[in-house]
Amino acid sequence: MNISRRASEISPFYVMELLEQARLMEAAGHSVIHMEVGEPGFETPGTIRQEAEKALAEGKTFYTHSLGIPELRQAVSRHYRDRYDLDISPERVIITNGSSGAFILLFAALLERGRTLDIADPGYPCYRNIALLTDCAVRALPVSAETNYEVLPEQLGGSPAPDVLVIANPSNPTGTIYRAGALNAIHKRLSSRGGVLVVDEIYSGLVYDAPFSSSAAISEDVIVVNGFSKAFAMTGWRLGWMVVPPGLVRPIQKLAQNLFIAPPSISQYAALAAFDDADGLARMCGLYRERRDFLLPRLRGLGFDIPVTPDGAFYIYAGIERFGMDSMLFVERALAEAKVAITPGYDFGRFGAASHVRFSYADRLENLVEGCDRLERWL
Ligand SMILES: Cc1ncc(COP(=O)(O)O)c(C=O)c1O
Repeated sequence: MNISRRASEISPFYVMELLEQARLMEAAGHSVIHMEVGEPGFETPGTIRQEAEKALAEGKTFYTHSLGIPELRQAVSRHYRDRYDLDISPERVIITNGSSGAFILLFAALLERGRTLDIADPGYPCYRNIALLTDCAVRALPVSAETNYEVLPEQLGGSPAPDVLVIANPSNPTGTIYRAGALNAIHKRLSSRGGVLVVDEIYSGLVYDAPFSSSAAISEDVIVVNGFSKAFAMTGWRLGWMVVPPGLVRPIQKLAQNLFIAPPSISQYAALAAFDDADGLARMCGLYRERRDFLLPRLRGLGFDIPVTPDGAFYIYAGIERFGMDSMLFVERALAEAKVAITPGYDFGRFGAASHVRFSYADRLENLVEGCDRLERWL
């Protein structure tokens, strides 16, 4: 079969390949500790599942409005008021098929051959791979521990001017949060060159010590992407949302009608309960913090180099220079010999990829303890 060049050339998502390999080992009877995958170690809260059962019993199984059911768009709008004291009209809220669906729609609307997307390196790999569908150019901006893994305004001076910059805040893979004012400065620099700022806040519900504010506060022309997968433990429901400038609603609507028809109906009705259980969410967040507080000193003690303390998400991005191994070899050997699955730096770009790995602490604390014990013996 004649596979397209873009399908042949797209990089695999190594973390998914590792997960598949780890599952094969488990099927063969081995116990594997999962510190690779970015999936919450919790089931979806009961109140959300009950709403789903209710929607199913009531036969809410039809296509919905392409931009999402009005009640959920309003609930998201209320969430911005309650959590950030921001007035976001429900008209600007678009419900999507996961935040991944939001990126497909956004990039289809904003990028094409001859345009440029800027991303952080290391950064979330799917931005690049989704953007490649539009034939745009993708430019990786190296970010390092010296600058808290932040893209700096002066990095946006390249030629051609960036059309779109995507930033994850909190970041995957580093778990870091942009410092106060940093995103305002980026927005100013980017818009002076005619570019659009997109901020992926999918980990905004998982923030520990650092202050966090939504970039929706910066300006109406900043696009904010978010979703239910992480903070609400709803990865399999495939539901996300974005806040867009009024002028982008209609173009996105036409694309959504054609690409997805509508987001999943049962998931949308279920998500109506998501914002109501603040205590449940705070409990989950507290458990993640406890895991981070265990894992961070333990990994440092094992010799991993972690210069910046991660303040959000459930990831630790760790330097492995002192072990004298390329990160791909390191994770392959850790899986085969210590039965611990970790993600290689190569999943997140090229800059520093050979000398870094990412640990996820989404799994239960006792498994993280066991994973560290195994790594200690192995190292
Ligand atoms: C930074 C970031 N954005 C987006 C996603 C995709 O999330 P969703 O399940 O909403 O498609 C992920 C998933 O790992 C992520 O880490």
